[in-house]
Amino acid sequence: MSNPLRDSRHAARRADPCLLVIFGATGDLTARKIAPALWSLATQGRLPPGLAVVGYGRSELSDDAFRGHIAGAVKADPASDGWKDFADRLFYHRGRYDDLDSHRALGRRLAELRQGRSADNTLFYLATPASAFEPIIRALGDAGLVPGQAGWTRIIVEKPFGRDLASARQLNDTLGGVFGEANSFRIDHYLGKETVQNLLVLRFANAIFELMWNREQVDHVQITAAEQLGVEQRAGFFEQTGILRDIAQNHLMQLLCLTAMEPPAAPDADAIRDEKVKVIRSLRRLTARDVVAGQYGPGAVEGRSVPGYREEPDVAADSSADTFLAMRAYVDNWRWAGVPFYLRCGKRLARKVTEIAIQFRRPPLSLFAQLGVDRLASNRLVIRVQPDEGISLLVGSKIPGPEVRIQPVKMDFRYGTSFGGRVPDAYERLVLDVMAGDATLFTRRDEVEQAWNYFAPILDAWERGDKSVVPYPAGSWGPADADRLLVSPEHAWRRL
Ligand code: BG6
Repeated sequence: MSNPLRDSRHAARRADPCLLVIFGATGDLTARKIAPALWSLATQGRLPPGLAVVGYGRSELSDDAFRGHIAGAVKADPASDGWKDFADRLFYHRGRYDDLDSHRALGRRLAELRQGRSADNTLFYLATPASAFEPIIRALGDAGLVPGQAGWTRIIVEKPFGRDLASARQLNDTLGGVFGEANSFRIDHYLGKETVQNLLVLRFANAIFELMWNREQVDHVQITAAEQLGVEQRAGFFEQTGILRDIAQNHLMQLLCLTAMEPPAAPDADAIRDEKVKVIRSLRRLTARDVVAGQYGPGAVEGRSVPGYREEPDVAADSSADTFLAMRAYVDNWRWAGVPFYLRCGKRLARKVTEIAIQFRRPPLSLFAQLGVDRLASNRLVIRVQPDEGISLLVGSKIPGPEVRIQPVKMDFRYGTSFGGRVPDAYERLVLDVMAGDATLFTRRDEVEQAWNYFAPILDAWERGDKSVVPYPAGSWGPADADRLLVSPEHAWRRL
């Protein structure tokens, strides 16, 4: 296994040629994320030679029609040479998800496509609605499209991975039975974000932070994943899922783990994932008192009026889907005992911003009180995951002049300014990692199950009908009720 901290060009060198089969090839995820990532890699010359992509879906489409569909999704000029080279690698195969014959036919198609290509390897990508995951995995197994042939056979499974502990276990059993853990790659695209990987570099490649990264120095931590977007066209999905399952159980948990984990014993997939699992296992049991769920009502986002969640198309008029979740977590280990971690995620909030803010303790006393400075702000380290990717440190500084007046100022690092160019999309990195067999940035079986286990008290209560979602206006920072999670009058949710 390789080092997660290595750059993605390294992954590109090692990515093996393969046939990539995308289930759900005409769906939203393929159009928004997977196809653009592949196209971007193609334009940078970073796709392994010999790679071919087979879109698998239920619609009747020719190879050419599929190529046209993808060209539209990635906004490529179909007349350009670059596009023609890429389009030559794209194929379409129609089939049902749960049907053995369709999968056998896929097997024959893959055998044909291998002729003349140096690609014994096969990568399946499940980008369908989650209800199709198990039928597809079983049908692949029954059709013999499983590891053990020439080359490797791997599978990428998108989230949501189950909807609670029991369903995640069952999916894991099916997946493990057919593909085995070593060939199973559960994606959480937050782990593919440069800024998220940089958390490990920030923490473990810089000596100064480790000294401060503990309960002695940190007052509290705030992790925010806020979106301005509403539910868009995904009401069918969201009504069933809600934001706890869509974002908190996976993306927020990953950010929490990387922030709180101990240094791994080695820079490899298992050592890093071991440390993350330890964090989740150290979390204090959640209770209803630690969570506030909300749902957006009508409001305005950047001056534009938007409807409330219940007015969105295909949403039930009395829906209780959670579109906002705020929570208070404690990592009960030696490093973090007593330090509150405040986490929140939401749709239709005031801004799109994902960040981790480490709030340090105040200086024990103010030397400057006698000079009229009554209160010193505490230092804060903010890791901006997106947008405006970077890191800033808030430090008190003397305002120039004859008096002692102190103001917090920001020391700022921005990716754009320091490194120039664009920050690569998470999916580009993750797809190459699977082709290279590097599981570091993918969620392991025990990790995903522990994360569901952590949320079980809340999900169980909701299942029993004990759920309240507090309304909040679209374009705000969520319901004021979230303030009841704050354990000190000095704490406040960040307005970003
Ligand atoms: C996805 C969720 O995993 O992440 C979406 O299903 C959400 O609901 C998206 O919009 C946010 O991703 P990003 O990369 O824009 O923060």
